[in-house]
Amino acid sequence: MRLSEHPLIGAETIQARVRELGAQITTDYAGRELMVIVVLKGGLLFAADLLRAIRVPLSLEYIRAKSYDGDHSQGHVELRVLPEQPLRGKHVLFVEDILDTGRTTAAIMDTAKDSGAASIQLCVLLDKPSHRTTPVHADYVGFTIDDHFVVGYGLDFDEHHRELPAIHVMENSFK
Ligand code: IMP
Ligand code: MG
Repeated sequence: MRLSEHPLIGAETIQARVRELGAQITTDYAGRELMVIVVLKGGLLFAADLLRAIRVPLSLEYIRAKSYDGDHSQGHVELRVLPEQPLRGKHVLFVEDILDTGRTTAAIMDTAKDSGAASIQLCVLLDKPSHRTTPVHADYVGFTIDDHFVVGYGLDFDEHHRELPAIHVMENSFK
């Protein structure tokens, strides 16, 4: 596997879209206080930029789920880090890197369902609808992509390439 030479989504395109999402979230949540729950580790870079584009008061929490080993699914989802503050009465917005099969996200959102949160929404940078096995609705989507394995801007291949400012495709080198 190797990195695509040209990015699938360039850094400036990502930054412009993140600003749009921030503006949309600011409008939608006007007059309310938000609790942003970042899904680690992939959502970290996206959330860092998105938070700075949101203009409503918010608090920040993390959640961590492990479901991937390399580029293939392990078939189960394990929650490892949970929010510290109670979700009761909060307007919760989950921020994730990518919606693929939907399994991880569905498991994460399930944990919030019985928390007494005032509302629960989902914001993903990337949506790969061709892979969906578990139905999940994303309220905010940065970009919808075809069936590629992508890295960069928080997304990894075996913990590599998260630091790239753009989104690249991992290609089979023998292709
Ligand atoms: P899902 O449960 O299949 O939707 O997968 C969710 C998680 O799998 C994401 O949060 C990512 O960490 C990982 N993942 C899925 N597709 C990709 C990809 O194309 N590149 C990197 N990570 C991915
Ligand atoms: Mg990952």
